[in-house]
Amino acid sequence: MCGIVGFSGFRPAANILIQGLKYLEYRGYDSTGIALMVDHKIQIKKSQGRIENTEKLMALSSDQFHQSTSGIGHTRWATHGKPSTENAHPHKTGHVVLVHNGIIENDLELRAGILARGHFPLSETDSELIGFLLFDEMERGHSLEVALRRVSQTLVGQWSIVIMSEREPGKVIGVRNGSPLVASIDSEGNVMVASDAQPLLPFTQSVTFLEPGEMVVGTPGLLMFFDLLTGRKIHREPTLIKWTADRMEKNGFPHYMLKEIYEQPKVFTQTLQEVLLPSSSEPFNFANEKNSEILLKAEEIILVACGTSWHAGLLGKYWIEKIAKIPVQLEYASEYRYRETCLRPSALVIGISQSGETADTLVVIRDMKRKGVSTLAITNVQGSSLAREADAVVFTHAGPEIGVAATKTFLCQSLSLFLFAAFLASKRTTQNSDVLSRLRRELNFIPKILNNISNSTIKNSESSEILRAINPILNSLGSVKGFFFMGRGHCFPLALEGALKLKEVSYDHAEGHASGELKHGPIAMLDPSIVVVAIAPQDPWYTKNRSNLEEVKARGARILGIGTYGDTYLQSICDYWLALPAEAQSIHSDLLPFIITPYIQLLAYARGVQLQRDVDKPRNLAKSVTVE
Ligand code: F6R
Repeated sequence: MCGIVGFSGFRPAANILIQGLKYLEYRGYDSTGIALMVDHKIQIKKSQGRIENTEKLMALSSDQFHQSTSGIGHTRWATHGKPSTENAHPHKTGHVVLVHNGIIENDLELRAGILARGHFPLSETDSELIGFLLFDEMERGHSLEVALRRVSQTLVGQWSIVIMSEREPGKVIGVRNGSPLVASIDSEGNVMVASDAQPLLPFTQSVTFLEPGEMVVGTPGLLMFFDLLTGRKIHREPTLIKWTADRMEKNGFPHYMLKEIYEQPKVFTQTLQEVLLPSSSEPFNFANEKNSEILLKAEEIILVACGTSWHAGLLGKYWIEKIAKIPVQLEYASEYRYRETCLRPSALVIGISQSGETADTLVVIRDMKRKGVSTLAITNVQGSSLAREADAVVFTHAGPEIGVAATKTFLCQSLSLFLFAAFLASKRTTQNSDVLSRLRRELNFIPKILNNISNSTIKNSESSEILRAINPILNSLGSVKGFFFMGRGHCFPLALEGALKLKEVSYDHAEGHASGELKHGPIAMLDPSIVVVAIAPQDPWYTKNRSNLEEVKARGARILGIGTYGDTYLQSICDYWLALPAEAQSIHSDLLPFIITPYIQLLAYARGVQLQRDVDKPRNLAKSVTVE
């Protein structure tokens, strides 16, 4: 979704804004633009498509433009009006210029009023309308801050806005009402605002997350916060972000997606170490007491999430019900929030969201809190709305994920949910201590196995062992009408995730199915043009999977098997074969999802690269879905 940056300080702003926008690229966008204050006049460069298009326009600009020390920038993900240069932000109305993230729901009424007052918007956006409202307020004699506060009262929806005016050069003002906004001031006095912390990190790790209903006013050397409604100055404590700017670089990898898949051994260990108490007599004691408390009170758990996070939730449901014997309901946030639900007072609602900003998930957590139900968040982003609003939070320690398709965050979400299951099992004594000790011991082996799979020291994708196995398979497929992923038990969520990942980054048709469901309909589509990716390790569901594979084979579909090392039966029935590492044979079957995850991710990655897709920024997708 849209990304905002703003800068006012003692350095040339143009490249800082462009670099900031590049850090926000992962959110997804279709046009970009920046506005700089050049000699008390606003100059705008904007274009449809990649940031590079705007950079090309900037290259033709004057030295003065490049020396300007204040400006705002934007990546737009179209909602109101098609992707085009006219609809790209910033939008200028008279002496006022603005960028906007979110949706203004009363745009039709506002547009009618603006037209009636004789103004003519140049774009189809809801955003540009705000500029006319600001302009009119300032014409009535109000300062920029007061105009923005007054206009904010008239807007309906979820939004953040950052503005500048030729009448007050050097001042950058931001307001938050829903869509996130973060502000900082570094040791030199450079002031920045942005949609998330990443553009600020090259300057400082100390950042302030605005709450909805707050306004930030930045001038070189000074950053102030105000209550939007009353205009009163408020004190806001900054948060220290642990991420560093170098973690947002590709570090020699051809794509962020590959880098992030290869980072999984490291982030798995980090999440394990941070979530659990390091030295404890019990194998699964939580480091954070509040998390322990809230989990222990739950007699029923409702997991809410979207997309990949929902797939992690499905794994979580299987684990919690099996290991901890607590009933779990898994819900799409976008459905749950609109339907009549009934919950026991002892229920716990867990929102799973890597970004912590997904609008639907956030609204469910807010609604539940309002109803007095306990809430917990699993998220990767410190300071995110979900982290701040839920009663308790478990952070996944995946570090910044720049590739739009979620990879390492999925693994860490899944791990967190597994740790919930094991923790609850240990406290409720639903598993004997030997089983739990074994699971804890073997969790420590997983990073080593993952490391062997990804061979993470090798950045050249051709040299990685698993990609050396996947690439020839993909090259020999010829024409394919679609991919069906199938799995049972713990491998069913992986089948769903494998299909989602593949379609996201390759645009191939892909579906995920529970193996047992194939014969209830999807089997009608099977013929040699379909490749069935069968995730069928030797786990408790293996023999049932074998029967399903025979059914697939009989319909002439081609099978790409992912299975246990040395499984000659599976290998013989499959047209293409990917063996799990030999050392995975001795690992408890509950832990196999962690080992299989990179296989499905790398398959999707390699297919996307084979088809020359933009795997890091697939078309139409946004990393942080802040609209409902
Ligand atoms: C898939 C993907 C999306 C997200 C979904 C939820 O690769 O990234 O399906 O999982 O938009 O996002 P979060 O986890 O940020 O709530």
